[in-house]
Amino acid sequence: MTAEAPTAVVTGASSGIGAATARALAAAGYHVILTARRKDRIEALAAELPHAEAYALDVTDRAAVDAFTAALGHRPSVDVLVNNAGGALGAEPVATGDPADWRAMYEVNVLGVLHMTQALLPALTASGEGTVVVLSSTAGHGTYEGGGGYVAAKHGAHVIAETLRLELCGEPVRVIEIAPGMVKTAEFATTRFRGDTDKAAKVYEGVDQPLTAEDVADTITWAITRPAHVNVDLLVVRPRAQASNTKVHRTT
Ligand SMILES: NC(=O)c1ccc[n+]([C@@H]2O[C@H](COP(=O)([O-])OP(=O)(O)OC[C@H]3O[C@@H](n4cnc5c(N)ncnc54)[C@H](OP(=O)(O)O)[C@@H]3O)[C@@H](O)[C@H]2O)c1
Repeated sequence: MTAEAPTAVVTGASSGIGAATARALAAAGYHVILTARRKDRIEALAAELPHAEAYALDVTDRAAVDAFTAALGHRPSVDVLVNNAGGALGAEPVATGDPADWRAMYEVNVLGVLHMTQALLPALTASGEGTVVVLSSTAGHGTYEGGGGYVAAKHGAHVIAETLRLELCGEPVRVIEIAPGMVKTAEFATTRFRGDTDKAAKVYEGVDQPLTAEDVADTITWAITRPAHVNVDLLVVRPRAQASNTKVHRTT
């Protein structure tokens, strides 16, 4: 880490896991740069944190990502990048899934990670102890019916993390993949089901304590705050009630 407060960039910091991670990293002493498309949300959260700033950004827009990197020019280095922006759209079987949804999921979950990582890699390397975090999912490690497009995209995110770790071996940059199972966040399932809150609620129905955004933020922060030579390659974290992508204990 650099002598002054280390800097962490968190994508998708306007809600859920990203917002909780921004809070947790700020509490751990990081200067946090919150990014997401919803400027009002990240500005409000940044104002609550001790050392934070907000920058509205769509990770699928390469020009916007490059403009963001240029705007960071005043900082000597970036120590941590948390690639959290992402999500699922639809739960149709492969036979009827909408290619536009599959494309959108690839854009944000794969190309979004690629854009941000490519853009910030020089600054992360310059820090002397850089960390790239990729929020994949257990969907990046196994499939389930109706998950095809999201599973394919999260496998892509997993492959970025694995390949990058090989390619950066010998460089002062760690690559950490965090793969959560079921996390009950305010927006993830509602976004997936296009605002249908009844369908979204069914995802968590009868599940005793799905993970919270704070649980995952805690896991991310733990992995980042290990000594710089310790690379937590992959951390899979699920609620106790979920044994696999397809085996979930429900009380109702
Ligand atoms: N919830 C789960 O069960 C679960 C499980 C495993 C993995 N994950 C992964 O964890 C991450 C966070 O999930 P979450 O549950 O916290 O979901 P969420 O509350 O829906 O958060 C998604 C975040 O991504 C941002 N985002 C979406 N598209 C973007 C884009 N094009 N450019 C920039 N930001 C964008 C959203 O902000 P704006 O709309 O303001 O841009 C939002 O802040 C995602 O990658 C998700 O796939 C979630």
